[in-house]
Amino acid sequence: MSTVVVVGSGVAGLTAALEADARGHRVTLLTKASLADGSTARAQGGVAVALDGPDVRRHVDDTVAAGAGLVDPTAAHAVCGGGPDALAALVCLGAGFDRTSDGSLARGLEAAHSVERIVHAGGDATGAEIARALVAAVRASTVMVREDAFALDVVVEHGRATGVRLLDGEVVPADAVVLATGGSGQLLGRTTNPSVATGDGVAMALRAGAHVADLELVQLHPTVLPDGFLVSEAVRGAGAVLRDASGHRFLLDVDPRGELAPRDVVARAVARRAHEQGRPVVLDATALGAEQLAARFPTIDAHLRELGLDWSRQPVPVTPAAHYAMGGVVAGVDGRTSLPGLLAIGECACTGLHGANRLASNSLLEGAVQGRAAVRAIEDGPRALAPRPGWGAPEPVTVDGGTDAFTRAELQSLMWDVLGVERTEPALTRAAARLAAWAPPAPTDPKSAEDANLLVLARATVEAARRRTESRGAHQRADHPRTDPSQALHRVLHREGA
Ligand code: FAD
Ligand code: SIN
Repeated sequence: MSTVVVVGSGVAGLTAALEADARGHRVTLLTKASLADGSTARAQGGVAVALDGPDVRRHVDDTVAAGAGLVDPTAAHAVCGGGPDALAALVCLGAGFDRTSDGSLARGLEAAHSVERIVHAGGDATGAEIARALVAAVRASTVMVREDAFALDVVVEHGRATGVRLLDGEVVPADAVVLATGGSGQLLGRTTNPSVATGDGVAMALRAGAHVADLELVQLHPTVLPDGFLVSEAVRGAGAVLRDASGHRFLLDVDPRGELAPRDVVARAVARRAHEQGRPVVLDATALGAEQLAARFPTIDAHLRELGLDWSRQPVPVTPAAHYAMGGVVAGVDGRTSLPGLLAIGECACTGLHGANRLASNSLLEGAVQGRAAVRAIEDGPRALAPRPGWGAPEPVTVDGGTDAFTRAELQSLMWDVLGVERTEPALTRAAARLAAWAPPAPTDPKSAEDANLLVLARATVEAARRRTESRGAHQRADHPRTDPSQALHRVLHREGA
């Protein structure tokens, strides 16, 4: 029996905690707010699962094609192949997915999927239902849950992770530490992500000396309301279209797949057209009709009505916003990282599944698959992930230095400006200088601890974006518009001085 500390209570952390508990390990689950806070409960579109055997191959192919040359096919096989079991486990816990009249699972379509394979719940409330089922199961288990417990750092002794240090200085010892801290959307001024998405786990891993990669690959979602509320891709999958200020359905001029082209293509096209016309692009769902919109997308429908908008009668303005971090702590699908005893799962991990552009609805799937696989890795003992062929040596990241007083709002605005839709060397260089001038906040409370993490992550992300001198998937360099096949390698970063 191992002592396991899981940090984070989204789909990945809750799944890992439950699985470890079921297999007889002693589990503590730390989460910095309440159990259901995080991206998981906000997920709308659903979970991509290949329910028919032969579809696994097509799901892998779609994942690889969307990822713009950076997907690790081994990871894609493992995650797509693990989908049916992971879904069955959620159903077993009582997650109620939507079904057709014959009782089979209803499946929707999202961008860059070649077939309808998105399983959903409550129409557009998939994440809320998954979180409800997992939280209820954790509450009913023997997992020791500690809410409002902010994990500050991984404790490393003799080259391996041996516990977690909390903000108040308490050390929670562990045979295995599982980071499941989610994304880092709060790095950018426009995001769909909740306030807890401050990249804490990635910053902790960097400070602990574990490898992180692909931080420059930040996925934008193309259809976000001005207040940051997401309008699911499933709405376009159901037939909604994007129009410019003249009412023109401009995406067909950009890509024959139109509104269902890969997410990076649609996000860029939306941003460019809005910029050219000086007016927002709109999502036109009027053809779907009031009844279908309310029944299939009740959460979005209710939110729009609260804003006084009736999307069955009028198109609604949308804009791209930061949505998903493809980069993170370098990890295998089983969560193993470069530091023995430390595992990373879910959005904070970089398994290579998503490459340079995540296929829609592959992240709930990844969290559910990894949460289970990580427990098997823990039982195999604290071994480090073997380095992947072709990877370069880790580069240093500056975690201290600077004298100017830090402000989060300024950081977020700066990061959106230089990392948002298009990047250039002069803008990134200016940003790097500004980031270096800020003194890392002393972590005295949750807000300042998050700020310190955001600053570390911003420095590493800007550096990674400078070093990828090509355009690929979510990473678009106006000064390097072509894809350079020689850069189809992950960029690995490391803590200062290592
Ligand atoms: P999260 O669910 O974000 O959970 C992270 C947890 O870590 C939280 O509990 C947080 O409080 C905790 N935490 C963070 N830092 C600390 C710390 N220092 N100490 C202690 N605890 C900490 N993906 C899909 O596949 N399908 C979708 O339909 C979909 N829709 C989405 C819609 C929205 C609006 C958003 C924002 C994302 C969506 N995604 C979707 C992406 C997906 O929801 C996330 O990638 C996924 O839920 C991440 O799960 P996770 O368990 O890794 O992290
Ligand atoms: C959406 O519903 O559009 C989000 C799906 C995802 O991010 O995977």
